[in-house]
Amino acid sequence: MTSQEIREKFLKFFENKGHTIVPSSSLIPDDPSVLLTTAGMQQFAPYLSGQVKPPYKRACSIQKCFRTVDIDEVGDETHHTFFEMLGNWSFGDYFKKGAIDYALDFLISELKIPIEKLWFTVFKGENNIPKDEEAIDLWMKKGIPKEKIFEFGLKDNFWGPTGLTGPCGPCSEIHYERTEKPCSLGKKCGPNCDCGRFVEIWNLVFMEYHKNEKGEYETLPQKNIDTGIGFERLTAILQNKKSGYETDLFLPIMEEISGAKHSGAAPDLTGGSPRMLRIIADHIRGACFLIADGVLPSNIEQGYILRRILRRIIGQGKILNLGEGLPKGVLLPNLAKKVIGLYGDIYPELKKRQVDILTVIQKEEEKFGRALENGLREFGKISHKTISGQEAFNLFSTYGFPLELTKELAKEKGLKVDERGFQEELKKHQEISRAGLEKKFGGHGLGETRVFSKKDEEKIKKLHTATHLLHQALRDVLGEQVKQMGSDINPERLRFDFSYPEKMTLEQIKKVEELVNQKIKENLPVKMEEMDKGKALKSGALSFFKEKYGERIKVYSVGGYSKEICAGPHVERTKELGGFKIKKEQSSSAEIRRIKAVLE
Ligand code: ALA
Repeated sequence: MTSQEIREKFLKFFENKGHTIVPSSSLIPDDPSVLLTTAGMQQFAPYLSGQVKPPYKRACSIQKCFRTVDIDEVGDETHHTFFEMLGNWSFGDYFKKGAIDYALDFLISELKIPIEKLWFTVFKGENNIPKDEEAIDLWMKKGIPKEKIFEFGLKDNFWGPTGLTGPCGPCSEIHYERTEKPCSLGKKCGPNCDCGRFVEIWNLVFMEYHKNEKGEYETLPQKNIDTGIGFERLTAILQNKKSGYETDLFLPIMEEISGAKHSGAAPDLTGGSPRMLRIIADHIRGACFLIADGVLPSNIEQGYILRRILRRIIGQGKILNLGEGLPKGVLLPNLAKKVIGLYGDIYPELKKRQVDILTVIQKEEEKFGRALENGLREFGKISHKTISGQEAFNLFSTYGFPLELTKELAKEKGLKVDERGFQEELKKHQEISRAGLEKKFGGHGLGETRVFSKKDEEKIKKLHTATHLLHQALRDVLGEQVKQMGSDINPERLRFDFSYPEKMTLEQIKKVEELVNQKIKENLPVKMEEMDKGKALKSGALSFFKEKYGERIKVYSVGGYSKEICAGPHVERTKELGGFKIKKEQSSSAEIRRIKAVLE
């Protein structure tokens, strides 16, 4: 069965059962407290929490997801950074029985997976939340023997919330038995065993709780269903392959990489591909999708994740001598073209932003490529057995080597890296101030905290306030149709995307700049107020994010001039900003303009 057939079968199956097919949302979630979309339910969170009345009772989707929590696992048979998740939802409609009936029916009747291959897990009860007897009962009524139903606690069988607060609930998973060979670890094993005999394919979440700010689980007014299938895993099973990399979701990319490695010789993909080639395939696919959703390489947040995966492949490409004989800066764009070719019909944003994708990747390759060569020269000078924290840190700060790259290089040469020493150096050099970031990254298992010096944090804060002034000034000069479409700030500059159909004239740019500078001069106070989302919107506060997890939100006002829903932080008075200058006004995509500006 081709992956395309699986996509169609899934959506059709649930459409026939009264589900509305909803397109994937962006990898950049609406909720500013969450870094990336890691699950299909994110776009439905307001419906699941009961905050917004859903336009439909049942939905299904194939969602683009990106998880950094599994980044070290990537390259094995079942983990990816970017992946697709098939899911179905009930918003206060069917509950456990419906979800279980549909899931088994789809796997067995539609996909023809033998029921003997399926194993199950349920919530065993923990933290005052009772054991899920109902789910056990329902599986058994379906003819599943008790021995194939395993019980686990909060860690494995309770899902969510994606942020610090939000909808969540106990879950029941369906695992597929990949081999009947006995457990290689010599255990009497079952789902969740590390031996690799089982792979989780479908997670059914019975969302009946809401985790509040105090960490308590409140019962939701309605009972919901949230499910997710890892598409790569399911495809591997149905195409009888060991991993997603050997399926039609990856094959052309793997062949291109392999071809580059073997300089034109027939690619050898038998028996699974070497791990590093898989990592390259995973990361290039992830990078293309991130860029298509507006992420650019930078040193913070989503931009840093993109930079990290790109640099990892550039570094690895170099180690493996990939693309030897190809002109410089051609290898990665070639791979990216394969990704766009493979996925462009399903995700048109890839095609629409093809030029951006190729340019961004090529630029990063050029930029890092130069530093990489110098860094490798430096690396070559190390003759002792253990690379000290100081040396690893020097490779990081001077040549932009992510620690993983240093570790991988060290492994090649049979050297060790003093990782703890590296972390200490990092701390020493960066006067850690995590609080704000931790909040943003916390709870998602995103071990991606990029720490800033105090000085950089101050710069970011100022640019953030400047962004609010810019937003209002653009509306004053160009009209109310201006709406924020995206924003990215690093210590050097702000970037602001907004809806507007044509290029701004020089005069308009000047006017906006003057207006912002005037507001800075007026030394307006910045005030924060917490209120209910509804009240905030009624008060006319601008909101970039359509619907959020709700609850109380923060509204920042700059004097009487600008009012926006935002998580902060901001400066206290506008005079702190200094001089505002627009450096560039350009097209971002159709009908969307992009401004880059700095504070001087
Ligand atoms: N939201 C659930 C998951 O991501 C289905 O596993």
